[in-house]
Amino acid sequence: MTTPPGPGRVVLVGGGPGAVDLLTLRGRRALTEADVVVADRLGPVAVLDELAPGVEVIDVGKAPGHHTVPQHEINAILVEQARRGRRVVRLKGGDPFVLGRGGEEVEACRAAGVPVEVVPGVSSALSVPALAGIPVTHRGTAAGFHVTSGHDGLDALAVACARDGAATLVVLMGVAVLGRIVAQALAAGAVAGTPVAIVENGSTERQRTVRGSLGEIVAAAAAAGVRSPAVIVMGGVAAEDLLEGDARG
Ligand SMILES: C[S@@+](CC[C@H](N)C(=O)[O-])C[C@H]1O[C@@H](n2cnc3c(N)ncnc32)[C@H](O)[C@@H]1O
Repeated sequence: MTTPPGPGRVVLVGGGPGAVDLLTLRGRRALTEADVVVADRLGPVAVLDELAPGVEVIDVGKAPGHHTVPQHEINAILVEQARRGRRVVRLKGGDPFVLGRGGEEVEACRAAGVPVEVVPGVSSALSVPALAGIPVTHRGTAAGFHVTSGHDGLDALAVACARDGAATLVVLMGVAVLGRIVAQALAAGAVAGTPVAIVENGSTERQRTVRGSLGEIVAAAAAAGVRSPAVIVMGGVAAEDLLEGDARG
């Protein structure tokens, strides 16, 4: 199939973790040029109120456990809107290519012959820990990090990361399966005293951090009523006093 003449195109915009001022300038520019915005539940939803009159907003937001619009339908919406000659912004939380299924959306556009561009975003995987004062790498504590989805529990690579403790483990979509993740890590030999931090609603006024050791975090999270969206950080960098009077240089 061929693309009809006209400016129809899709721009995947990474919106960052939620605060409007963590959306990139390039992303904002794409929004000012949009005819239609296909939006998620997470990310800078407040920016939708600033769109010019006449810009259509299609909400395909997914709440955990309630996949209101299946991915294949989102792909179809993007293609169909662009084929009508419209400038489509697909506004996504964080970065489009970090556990965000942005790759599938690009594939769908390309398969349909629709021009598609990606505007990177500030991923929650790095920014939400940073906003809570947690560096995912820190000299002498962790020289690397591993980002994974907790949705189906930890895979072998993530379990190895939790066990070894040399790199920071960052888990997205892990709140509902926190008990399982912790059990997997402990069963693999991770130290029960490993610091863990869970940061909810990063960059919003409801941002909150709950901390505990690996052995305690399930009880701590339950007591605090931790909810999604949240980023789980496991490793030495999650220690509350990490950046207090650090003399290692
Ligand atoms: C489907 S993933 C999308 C990740 C996104 N592409 C990114 O780069 O941030 C959604 C998960 O990201 C995390 N997340 C996104 N925004 C967040 C926020 N503001 N605070 C805490 N966690 C967030 C949560 O773990 C949530 O379940």
